Amino acid sequence: MRIAPPKTIHLKDYAPAPHAVTHVEMNVVLHPTRTQVETTLHVKVREAGQPLVLDGEDIEFVSARINGDEVHPVCDSSTLTFDIVPHQDFTLSIIQTCNPEANTALSGLYLSSGVFCTQMEAEGFRRFAYMQDRPDIMATYRVRIDAPKSMPVLLSNGNPVDTGDAAHGRHFAVWDDPHPKPTYLFALVAGDLASVHDSFTTMDGRKVSLGIYVEHGKQDRCDWAMESLKASMRWDEERFGRAYDLDVFNIVAVSDFNMGAMENKGLNIFNDKYILARPDTATDTDYVNIERIIAHEYFHNWTGNRITCRDWFQLCLKEGLTVFRDQEFTSDLRSRAVKRIEDVKTLRARQFPEDQGPLAHPVRPSSYIEINNFYTPTVYEKGAEICRMLMTLIGRDTFRKGMDLFFERHDGEAARVEDFLRCMADASGQNLSHFARWYEQAGTPVVTVSTAFDEDAAEFTVTLRQHTPDTPGQSNKPPLHMPIALGLIGEDGADVPLVTKENVALSNGVATLGKAETTLTFRNIVKRPVLSVNRGFSAPIILQSDASDDDLLFQAAHDGDSFNRWEATQTCARRLLIAAYHNTPVDVSALAEALRRTIQSSALDHAFKALSLQLPGEAEIAAALKTDVNADQLHESRARVLASLVGLLQGELLEQLEATRDHGPYVADVAGTARRSLHLAALALLARHNAAFSVAHAEQLFETATNMTLESGAIAAVLSSDVAIVDQLLTRFYERHRDDHLLVDKWFMLMAARPAAEAAHRIRTLTQHEAFTFKTPNRVYALIGGFTGGNLAGFHAADGSGYALLADTIITLNAINPQVASRMATSFRSWRQFDAPRRARAEAEMRRILTSSGLSNDVFEIISRTVA
Ligand code: TRP
Ligand code: ZN
Repeated sequence: MRIAPPKTIHLKDYAPAPHAVTHVEMNVVLHPTRTQVETTLHVKVREAGQPLVLDGEDIEFVSARINGDEVHPVCDSSTLTFDIVPHQDFTLSIIQTCNPEANTALSGLYLSSGVFCTQMEAEGFRRFAYMQDRPDIMATYRVRIDAPKSMPVLLSNGNPVDTGDAAHGRHFAVWDDPHPKPTYLFALVAGDLASVHDSFTTMDGRKVSLGIYVEHGKQDRCDWAMESLKASMRWDEERFGRAYDLDVFNIVAVSDFNMGAMENKGLNIFNDKYILARPDTATDTDYVNIERIIAHEYFHNWTGNRITCRDWFQLCLKEGLTVFRDQEFTSDLRSRAVKRIEDVKTLRARQFPEDQGPLAHPVRPSSYIEINNFYTPTVYEKGAEICRMLMTLIGRDTFRKGMDLFFERHDGEAARVEDFLRCMADASGQNLSHFARWYEQAGTPVVTVSTAFDEDAAEFTVTLRQHTPDTPGQSNKPPLHMPIALGLIGEDGADVPLVTKENVALSNGVATLGKAETTLTFRNIVKRPVLSVNRGFSAPIILQSDASDDDLLFQAAHDGDSFNRWEATQTCARRLLIAAYHNTPVDVSALAEALRRTIQSSALDHAFKALSLQLPGEAEIAAALKTDVNADQLHESRARVLASLVGLLQGELLEQLEATRDHGPYVADVAGTARRSLHLAALALLARHNAAFSVAHAEQLFETATNMTLESGAIAAVLSSDVAIVDQLLTRFYERHRDDHLLVDKWFMLMAARPAAEAAHRIRTLTQHEAFTFKTPNRVYALIGGFTGGNLAGFHAADGSGYALLADTIITLNAINPQVASRMATSFRSWRQFDAPRRARAEAEMRRILTSSGLSNDVFEIISRTVA
């Protein structure tokens, strides 16, 4: 039981620190259980007479000196306080120790498979050394690493300046980082690692050596990451005029990591899942993710590192903007149309449920208990949508001017969202004060569209009403400023010119909404057109339109906007799936016809066809149903709709399967990726109607595949077929790949998603499997995350077995790794959508977590908000 509720931090309480640290010298003597860190902080006095309070957590204080004289600060479990310090700038030297081996939280300095590594964001530095651990304190660093010679690789931020022998048969390396940075961008790595090297010459002529460090024997899996890094460096120069600013750029891949990767200055540290790739070990999705995450971390060098955040409330300033930049990178390198659809799918699957549930929070929150809980889809993905809307509103070139201004004004600073918006306002001459509300207001706006056609006046009227539902702590929300791209499709399938009644053309087909209700009247419309609205998903909203099924099918065939062409069939499918859930007889023939035309069209590419064949999942339908969902009924009704749909499309799907067979060597390019995704999407649908045929095809694919995309994709495509061969395939997959940890994760993920009565029981048994451990985040994310996120009926089983398993997992993880425990805890976020018996069991399990002993702030915050 908790004694007192933990402390809440508020944005309004921000105050600059009375002391700054401008330079840090450090000597780190590495030891698995007792690493000694000596720091010398160059302290600048901003406000004389104030005590100096440093943060510290789970570390041991040894001694301190101010300007060379020993002092005796007051030490408690979270701070080291120097009550009296000089009124002029001074140096403070501290000796402290930490225990990397005992660090299972993977925050601070820890060991991953014998390699020392760090993760300092958000507040990990204090678990390594006493310091003002806040992002507005920026210092230069000079770091000496002292390690045994059995660890030949010694890395830190910046440039290498010295190496040599050290006492006791050890060796050392010195690194110097001339760019002032906050503590959270500090990094240090020491170990016995293999590496691959390359170089890149920047547009201003700097030759940068690039290194990627991995486990021995994995050097042949680094090519893709290296190519992606060079592509990212080139793209940031071309698209944003930003060049790299040090002589070295290193990346280290480790197996134990809480998140995807970390943008430490000059020394990115990655979850090895997002570095290692070879055709026979990584899927197309892995390849795309590696490319994207390498780009993301690299892009942080300007958006995050050169310009950092004043405080953690400004997290979206670096994360939303950097996600936006990595989305643009992928769009420029691959297919913009496909990327947009995929990003919206991710937003709907991850951010919408958050925004519509108990964990809803603004993109810039105003308070938090544990900052690690705010690395959320809302801060990242909705944050990116805000940047995209800005670009749509002011135009691409003006957006670039705004970015230039941002770099010009704030380079080297710890900035706020307001600073970014001011640059965009100044560059565009637009007033963005209303737009700024997107950062403060939580919840997904619902925009309702209705249309009226006046044949005599040749006028077509579109009325858009917006409303943002209440979210925890926020009600009666004012309307938002948003860009809605739209078009009117004429009989011939082409857009008709848009002339509004006031005789102004909409700028590039974008209407700007600012009020609760907006009416647009278009002139010279002689026949009732079909409205295409929120094209390209120009605003992150839920659209409720009065479009008929016929209109949707027409849009699916003709809309000039590829996003809305895709969206039209999805909307149709969603309607059918909802009706089927309510036991209303459904006619799937029109949807079948639309899909038939899509997959047979020679104008559409494989990737678009594959996306069209991926129909809304159970979680999306549950969200649309909103309340009292019976998960079994949902699972069965969806399966029924898919089976009857495929009954009408078998021939066409078989044709696609034939047309997309794999020939020749694997290439992770747009065409190959698209071909394989269509092959697997067609197979997954066929499996809904003809399990025997599909499983046989999957088995053959599994046996003959020369790449992991088809090998694992074959099993994934037939997972919902209740036949014994699928279980045999899963067993064979494990036998084949048991020595490759990333492939063992894929196996756990497949096992977790296999629908079955008693699924929770099977997952619980798997936690006892020889390969399972709660200590490796990837393994937990694969098995437990794969279950809560990929097996809706199993997780939401009526008997509460899925909830009990999740609660037990969270309680176990809480003692090992609070960040991972709390990520798992977010799986409860949609519990209120389900029926009363399920809600009762979910709530009981959450209450059980809240009364368990030693609960971390991380888990406490998530569960208490979820159950509230
Ligand atoms: N800043 C990282 C990113 O690129 C996120 C991150 C990595 C992180 N590791 C973390 C955040 C640990 C919190 C805790 O998005
Ligand atoms: Zn990031």
